[in-house]
Amino acid sequence: MNARTPRPAEAPAKTGRELAARVVFRVLAEDAWASPSLDGELSRARLPPSESGRATDLVYGVLRVLPALDEAIDQHRPRRDPLEPFTRACMLTASYELLHTPEKPWAILDETVGLIRRERAEALSRFANAVLRKIAAQRPTEPARPKQIVLPRWLDALLVKDLGADRARAFTGERPMPPPTSLRARGDRDALIEAIHEARPEAELTRGAMSAHAILARGVGDPRKLPGFERGQMTMMDEASQLVAEAVGARAGERVLDACAGRGGKTIAILDAMRASGEDDGELIACDDHPEKLLRMDDELSRLGHRPADVVRRGVDLSVGLGGLEERSFDRVLVDAPCTGLGTVHRRPEILLRVIEEDIARLRELQLAIARNVTKLVRPGGVLVYAVCSPTRAEGIGVVSPLARETGFTILREPVGNLACDDDGMIRLGPWCDPHASCDGFQIARLRRPD
Ligand SMILES: C[S@@+](CC[C@H](N)C(=O)[O-])C[C@H]1O[C@@H](n2cnc3c(N)ncnc32)[C@H](O)[C@@H]1O
Repeated sequence: MNARTPRPAEAPAKTGRELAARVVFRVLAEDAWASPSLDGELSRARLPPSESGRATDLVYGVLRVLPALDEAIDQHRPRRDPLEPFTRACMLTASYELLHTPEKPWAILDETVGLIRRERAEALSRFANAVLRKIAAQRPTEPARPKQIVLPRWLDALLVKDLGADRARAFTGERPMPPPTSLRARGDRDALIEAIHEARPEAELTRGAMSAHAILARGVGDPRKLPGFERGQMTMMDEASQLVAEAVGARAGERVLDACAGRGGKTIAILDAMRASGEDDGELIACDDHPEKLLRMDDELSRLGHRPADVVRRGVDLSVGLGGLEERSFDRVLVDAPCTGLGTVHRRPEILLRVIEEDIARLRELQLAIARNVTKLVRPGGVLVYAVCSPTRAEGIGVVSPLARETGFTILREPVGNLACDDDGMIRLGPWCDPHASCDGFQIARLRRPD
């Protein structure tokens, strides 16, 4: 944040609209992430559910169509100099509400203008009033939620080129909002669905169409309070991530490496698969160049009945070395590579503010360096799984194809679960796989080292 940008008042917000404007301010002016900022403000403010819901809708709504809202505001102001940041956040929030919700315009204007007057200056509030009135005059007769996320132009063009027009439209298109909570059942999925139904008869529970372990839940509240959670019968894990872990196909007795394990979401799913398939322990090693992240999986391992020692942890920068890991010793290696994260824009639309076009080529170099290095660890006949939560070709086949060419690894073309590969061997996950799941844009490839 610019040192001269004053923070808005610190007292808890009194309405959903005020809370939303504050969070939008933090995301735009302080590079905060929306979800933790929203959670923090909501828990301080203790608003009624309808106001909390309004705040959540407004924050994500604004961030999903930000370029269009900026344009709507700019149309009605003579000068193009940057707006005072909190005033801009309030005006964006009000513009979204005016153009996309049925809320009464006078209520939106009254509160927004009053908020700017209180937190900033009379002159800014008069300016905002004049602009917002003009936007209110252009309000559609039946304001509706936007049908598409509005991407920066370069990204829009890139996705059409990389995914084709139909998938690009599906990727940015309307999704069930908020997305369902995705759970991974450990054990009998149907029995768990029944147990959750008994405890939460009003909840909507469906089996994930892609992963045999996924449950998509609506109206269950905090999953940590569900029956069986404490006993480790489920984890919170999005379905695309479950599929990545399933693609590894780890079994009891194998030596497996999760090369970019982070906090271990997928490591633990891999450990579960190894334990579920037989008695022989095998060995599971988790690496990351930020070793502190690797320690964060301990509590979850314990909750699930594993011991922290069941996962050997190593802090290694795998783009430059192998940290003493033995070459040709692993049956399976997962590279869940650092990436732009563009596949998660529906859940984290502020990514669109952070990623610039040049990041894609820079990250592709890093992904290739890690993957190239890690191929040395795979035993003859062993499998390397490469995954990214981004839909761009550069980060997908743009890494996998040169990797296969340089190393002689074969790109496997069998389906993962019921998901088939595209012709180039990539499994491309997105809303086209299951329109009800609000699936992130992941890519997965599996490669085998020749014997
Ligand atoms: C997409 S995240 C992995 C998320 C994790 N697999 C999970 O399921 O929670 C990529 C991870 O790669 C790590 N990373 C980045 N550069 C690395 C490198 N050169 N060597 C090893 N790990 C790296 C990051 O710290 C980050 O945790």
